[in-house]
Order: sequence, then C-alpha cells, then structure tokens
Amino acid sequence: MFDAAIQPPGDPIAAVTHPDPWPYYRQLRESRPSYFDAGLQLWVASSQSVIVEALHHPALTVRPPGEPVPAALQGTAAGEVFALLVRMTDGAFHAAHKPAVKQKVRRWSLAELAAASTAATADLWPRLGANNFLSRLPGQTMARLLSVPDLELDATCSQVQTFVQGIAAGASGTAVALASDAAEALMNQGKAEGLDAVQAANRIALMQQALDATAGLLGHSVLMLARYPELAEAAGDAPQAMREFVAEVERHQAPIQNTRRYAAQSLSLAGQPIEAGQGVLLVLASGNRDEALHAHPDHFDPQRSDGRSLGFGAGAHACPGAAIAIETVAACARWLGAGAQFGSYFGMQSGFRPLGNARIPVFEE
Ligand code: HEM
Repeated sequence: MFDAAIQPPGDPIAAVTHPDPWPYYRQLRESRPSYFDAGLQLWVASSQSVIVEALHHPALTVRPPGEPVPAALQGTAAGEVFALLVRMTDGAFHAAHKPAVKQKVRRWSLAELAAASTAATADLWPRLGANNFLSRLPGQTMARLLSVPDLELDATCSQVQTFVQGIAAGASGTAVALASDAAEALMNQGKAEGLDAVQAANRIALMQQALDATAGLLGHSVLMLARYPELAEAAGDAPQAMREFVAEVERHQAPIQNTRRYAAQSLSLAGQPIEAGQGVLLVLASGNRDEALHAHPDHFDPQRSDGRSLGFGAGAHACPGAAIAIETVAACARWLGAGAQFGSYFGMQSGFRPLGNARIPVFEE
C-alpha cells in the first residue's frame, strides 16, 4: 500500500528519486510488467522474467541503432573513447573485448581490494564531506588497484569525474570539451603502461563505471547499517558478514535502479511487438523485489543464501565489478565503523541526487 501522505511517482524515472518507490514498482510488475510509456516514449519492463528476457535478447542493444556514439561526442576525443567501451558496444566488438575486462578485474584478491578501499578511506575521510566522500571513494579505490601513483590519485579521479560528466546525456559543449581533455590524459596514462587503445579505454571504464553505482551502494549501506544496529554490530567484526550485508543492500535498495536497451530491429518482448529503434527501460530495482526471484522480497535479510540480484545486470553486459564494489563498500564500512565514525560523519539523509538511473542518497553536512 502507498503511504497516503506520499504521492506515488509519475513514472519509473521519477521513481528513482522518490522516497518510497517500492509499492509503485510492485503495482507496475503486477498490473503491466511490460508496457509502452507514452510520456517517456519508452517501453518499460518491470518483472523479473521480462527484464531477464530483455537482457538476453540478441536484438536489444545498449546504444540506439544508427547512433553508436552520441551525436554531441562525435569527432571528439571523448567520443573516441566512448566508442571503445565494452559498456557501450555490442556484437563482435563487445564479444572480443569483454573477456579481457573480466580477466583484468578478477586478478585482485579480497585482501588487495580491502587494502585499497581502506587506504582510500583513510586518505579521503579526513578531508572531504560525506557527499564528496561517496563520490571519491570508488574512483580512488579503483585507481589504487590500477597502480596509479599516490601523487596522481587526485588528478586522475578528477579527470575520470570530468569524463563522466562530459559523456552524460545533455552535457554542455564546455563539458564535452573538458571531457575530451580528460580522456586524452587518461588514455596517455594507459598507453604509458603499454596498453593499446581498447585496453586503455576500458582501463578508464573500470574507474568510470565504479563511480555512481558504488557511491550509491555505500550511501545505502550507511543508511541500512544505521537502521539495523544489531546486524551492523555483528558485521563490524566479521568480514564475510559485512560482505553479505552489503550484497543484500544492493539487492534490496538497487543503487542502479534501471538500465536501457534499444531495438536493433523489430522484435517481440514478452509477446509484445517492439519497433526497430524503440527504447526499453529495464527496471532492475523492481525485478529485485519480484517474488519470482525471492521469497519475501521486501524483507531485508543478509542471510539470503542464493545472492541473486538483477542490480548488477545479467547476460552479455553483466557487471564484471560486482565483487570489487561489494568489497570496497564492506571494507570502508568496517574501517569507519570500527572508529565509530559513522554517526558523526554521515548526517541525516536529505534526499537523493537528481539522476534518472542511479539512486544515491544525499546527506546533510
Ligand atoms: C568497482 C566497481 C565497479 C566496476 C569496476 C564496474 C564495472 C562495470 C563495467 C566495465 C560494466 C560494463 C560491462 C559490459 O557492458 O559488458 C558494468 C556494467 C554494469 N554495472 Fe558495474 N561496475 C562497478 C560497480 C557497480 C555497482 C556497485 C553496480 C550496482 C549497484 C553496478 C551495476 C552495473 C550494471 C547494472 C551493469 C550493466 C548495465 C547494462 O547491462 O545495461 N556496477 N560495470
């Protein structure tokens, strides 16, 4: 049931920053698990089965047909990098390069991941407010894993943020120009390590993809640790318990609430006809609360044994960074929690960042 005092969100994009989108998602999944939203001009898939079908559909691609690189980026250095990212490509190119990305992220042990996150936490926490800390921790952790020298960490993380801002839909011409300068500097860093252009671009991708998603995961973990103090206390002393806690935060809160696909040709999804070029919004957050995926899906339970979540995607584009993200957040939470820093550092939550796919809490500072 909806809280009578809170109006439900107007559409699934507004739901991302709504205080309580879960009853709305349930209503969508139960009444129209796939439908065309005339306001958004997008198909919307909200049940586990339709989302999974879409994520595995060979004719649903990550970019609109005919626009592999956004028009605003074409002919720029930022656009050249964009064209090489596994996140933004399909077909033979994606199949050829995704395995190397997966292999690269699997080489770090849990101890190395935890050490990088703890070092980044110790560096950033004393000099940043809570919201900037959320933004910076994931990038710096990944930069440390990629052996960026200490003196270059801040500049590298700033460049990655500038690149992300410039490739976002609707970015200004100035933002695109700054993103291109950042892309060139970051590509040169990779090439200096002997990487070719595709490898250097996907080295940037590791830092870039970590940003919003892991910031959201950390922000929600902070909130859930405060909501469940007994679980927090148990997890503070046990690395595996904290990992399970963070993994359940990801399933339950879904920091990446949705992702998109585009029909490369006319096709049928859940029995409905989709025309070539039309977009589909896959509401991963709703899929994670589908009874077909989990019993008692609204219940927060770090003991869930199967760990199934659609929040890291599935199929060819499944996130290769899930274990890194969970360890980054778990190690940071243990470090801050051990010093009893949580309560004083993260103030009350005042809302969410104004984004259309990532649900990232904002804290009062
Ligand atoms: C260190 C942190 C992370 C790294 C290095 C990382 C890296 C990546 C990369 C390289 C991809 C593209 C894969 C491909 O297209 O083949 C990807 C996809 C994805 N990531 Fe992550 N990621 C991180 C954290 C997260 C977190 C915390 C979440 C969710 C809470 C997340 C959710 C996703 C999703 C949903 C996709 C698939 C998007 C789609 O299929 O449209 N990632 N990630």
